[in-house]
Amino acid sequence: MSWGVFDSGVGGLTVVRALRARLPEAHLTYLGDTARVPYGIRSVATVRRYAAEAAEFFRRRRVEGLIVACNTVSAVALDVVESGFPGPVLDVVRPGVAAALEATRRGRIGVIGTPATIRSDAYGAGLRAARDGLVVVSRACPLFVPLAEEGWTDGDVPRLAAERYLAPLIEAGVDTVVLGCTHYPLLRGVIGRVMGPEVTLVDSAEAVAAVAEQRSAALERAGRGEPDRCFVTDAGGAFAEVAGRFLGAPIERLEEVALGT
Ligand code: DGL
Repeated sequence: MSWGVFDSGVGGLTVVRALRARLPEAHLTYLGDTARVPYGIRSVATVRRYAAEAAEFFRRRRVEGLIVACNTVSAVALDVVESGFPGPVLDVVRPGVAAALEATRRGRIGVIGTPATIRSDAYGAGLRAARDGLVVVSRACPLFVPLAEEGWTDGDVPRLAAERYLAPLIEAGVDTVVLGCTHYPLLRGVIGRVMGPEVTLVDSAEAVAAVAEQRSAALERAGRGEPDRCFVTDAGGAFAEVAGRFLGAPIERLEEVALGT
């Protein structure tokens, strides 16, 4: 089956990596809106406008299904993507919520993400709607995005940032933390060390890849045998270099595309 994977930039490649492990046959078309990243610090109205343009891009490319890898878009603009794309649309929030509910032992869950994701309370609302009595503590961690892109995923700087950001989660005694941003799986080591070994980290990239695997099997569509393609809205930056770290493999060819035209 062919899937489009949409993200604000390079971060959605963590979802591509998880998808590749489960669906080696799938044909993946990636779009990173590198000209306008980051989305997580923008207004809801702006993110919704960008999301509509991305949905239109994938509708025209005729991919069969669409995976919204970006937590920010999943949190504030999923309805926009769903109404602009004719096939199945998967987001990262619902699978992340389901995985957190499965993981929690004492019903105390931490959620970390971009400011827009945390402000939307999409994870918190999803968790509380699914189970009464949960304690959910959410925290925006905006510096984690540039740290992951710089490759500063270990050492004093990310540790100090993590200690500051995660203090309220530790204080609340959470037993599970949802990594509600594409970039946070790269900081898994430092987040895990700061939270301690008793705390389970839920990776929404992994969670959506598992759902995509089930949906691909249910839809029973064969892969089209086309090569994967990687589109960006600005190929001028360090995308290819940073992408290698997120994907765990080099990107062979980048194609530049303009959205909203
Ligand atoms: N992809 C975004 C997310 O998962 C993080 C980067 C951004 O702010 O655009 O929320």
